[in-house]
Amino acid sequence: MSLRTKQWIIAVLGSAFLVSLLFVQWREVARVREEAGLVPPHIAVPASSESCVKCHGESSPGIIDHWKGSTHAVKGVGCVECHQADAKDADAFEHYGATIATVVTPRDCARCHVNEANEFAHSHHARGGNILASLDNTLAEVV
Ligand code: HEC
Ligand code: HEC
Ligand code: HEC
Repeated sequence: MSLRTKQWIIAVLGSAFLVSLLFVQWREVARVREEAGLVPPHIAVPASSESCVKCHGESSPGIIDHWKGSTHAVKGVGCVECHQADAKDADAFEHYGATIATVVTPRDCARCHVNEANEFAHSHHARGGNILASLDNTLAEVV
């Protein structure tokens, strides 16, 4: 191999190394800026929720804005992930080609948040509704 060829190989490898360094630095700066809140977080709308986001962006922009500002949106949890329903569910309805739940309950959250749902289910909060038909409630109303 001639000296010239060797010089060329070293030049090419050297530039490739420099380019990869610059690329990594650019990615790091973008990530840190996002984490520091200097730029809005990058949100990729999951394909299954694209139609929901598009149409509700016009009919109920507040709900879409709320979602866009959430950790769920940043982590790729779209509308369907929470609102999905089985056709047999009492609150399921056909909505523009998707079967969705009108009422998103702690059971829906439990699909992902197993520990939190478990803790909640064993808390006094979860039984709060039972007070409605109880003697405690009568007592409270009288008092
Ligand atoms: C083409 C427009 C359009 C698309 C697509 C659409 N929606 Fe809707 N959605 C509406 C409108 C308008 C309403 C309010 C009227 C109604 O209740 O039907 C609504 C109502 C709702 C409701 C409230 C129902 C109630 O009465 O409590 C939920 C929940 C909902 N949409 C979720 C979704 C989800 C999840 C998707 C995606 C799978 C979706 N929507 C796709 C237009 C749309
Ligand atoms: C983290 C779970 C979660 C995500 C993600 C989510 N929702 Fe909801 N959504 C809920 C809960 C909880 C409610 C309030 C209780 C209910 O009505 O089911 C609700 C209520 C609604 C309602 C009904 C409001 C009303 O007035 O009755 C609409 C419409 C709706 N969501 C649309 C959407 C759309 C569109 C998206 C995607 C951009 C979305 N949701 C993403 C959990 C979620
Ligand atoms: C499809 C999965 C999924 C569903 C369903 C879901 N979540 Fe989440 N949730 C996530 C992920 C992923 C995160 C981000 C966790 C992390 O960053 O460590 C998150 C984070 C959260 C956080 C922390 C937000 C923050 O800014 O730190 C709360 C609170 C939360 N979820 C509540 C709910 C509630 C309430 C429901 C039901 C109405 C629900 N989630 C449904 C996946 C889900």
